[in-house]
Amino acid sequence: MKKKPIILGIETSCDETAASIIQENNDGSINILSNIISSQFDIHKEFGGVVPELAARSHAEKIDLITKKAIFESGINVKNIDAVAATAGPGLIVCLSVGLNFGKAISASLKKPFIAVNHLEGHAISPKLNSKLDYPYLLLLISGGHSQFLSVEKLGKYKRLGTTIDDALGEAFDKTAKLIGIDFPGGPKIEEYAKLGDPNKFDLPKPIINRGGCNLSFAGLKTAVLKISKTIKTKEEKFDLAASFQRTIEEILYIKTKIAFKEFKKINKKGNKFVVAGGVAANKKIRKVLEKLCYEEHFESIFPPLNLCGDNAAMIAMVGLEKFKKKEFNKLNYPANPRWALDKSAIFLKGAGVKL
Ligand code: KG4
Ligand code: ZN
Repeated sequence: MKKKPIILGIETSCDETAASIIQENNDGSINILSNIISSQFDIHKEFGGVVPELAARSHAEKIDLITKKAIFESGINVKNIDAVAATAGPGLIVCLSVGLNFGKAISASLKKPFIAVNHLEGHAISPKLNSKLDYPYLLLLISGGHSQFLSVEKLGKYKRLGTTIDDALGEAFDKTAKLIGIDFPGGPKIEEYAKLGDPNKFDLPKPIINRGGCNLSFAGLKTAVLKISKTIKTKEEKFDLAASFQRTIEEILYIKTKIAFKEFKKINKKGNKFVVAGGVAANKKIRKVLEKLCYEEHFESIFPPLNLCGDNAAMIAMVGLEKFKKKEFNKLNYPANPRWALDKSAIFLKGAGVKL
């Protein structure tokens, strides 16, 4: 039987240095042979956000070791790698350059094809790592830097239906966390705090909830959280604020996703698959609310496994595998692209004065 392709994936677009080896099984399912992720939480904690130069330096220090570890843990011989896939964008240019150049160097030394991967496409197809996923599908991508509804027509073909006009959802979680004294990135902790508080204690705004189609906005919500955070004193009140924030987000996503379903149906009459991906997709309450909506609207909900919601290199290798099968390779002078959008035709919708 012919050997199934083995792909090395490399990811350094933000604050995770990651390398992974995956192989397709004979039945088409995926074997994640290794998936090494080194986070930089401790480096950026005191700054309350990612500092690009520090992140890039750490990637440069670790990428060699992390990749060696991924190859070692996979148990494969490096000569059996069929292609090297590395994130080329979007992300911080100084960070992207580290993994991209490292990936190109390995590809050149092994004389195996190089594949430049869009990080967001990695999130978009991450559920393929553990389940079958057919096109088309509606994608809600919610991470630290992006919040978008996209119709995924096929690999490489996306139509954006809605986007945030200001903050990303992960950013809103992290900023709320910071305001109540939780270290960066506080998103996961907000979910924990929320379990201990009263979700109806504070009435928070739901920006552009009755207009703007399935576009999203979280800046006004952040301002409201800022005001309340100045008045609260006890731990219980912090739990209440986290719970009220979590409830408000659930309500916003429920309403906006319902609109996105309609928009998606307009272009894909029979389409009924809904994928939620990106770091915030690890939030169990958000999953539950969106699962309920899918049940009501006759959509099938699909989520990546919890450990593959955040940034990782297995999802980059997954895109690499799909492109490898289609022989979509890139030259070694492929540039880093910090603003690589999935839907290049979508107009820029950010900042003051945006008309919806
Ligand atoms: O996809 P990701 O790892 O990185 C980007 O590509 O941005 O997403 C990271 C974001 C952070 O803002 C983090 O706080 C948020 O995802 N996040 C969560 C949860 N887990 C991670 N937000 C809410 N609830 C969670 N359980
Ligand atoms: Zn990401």
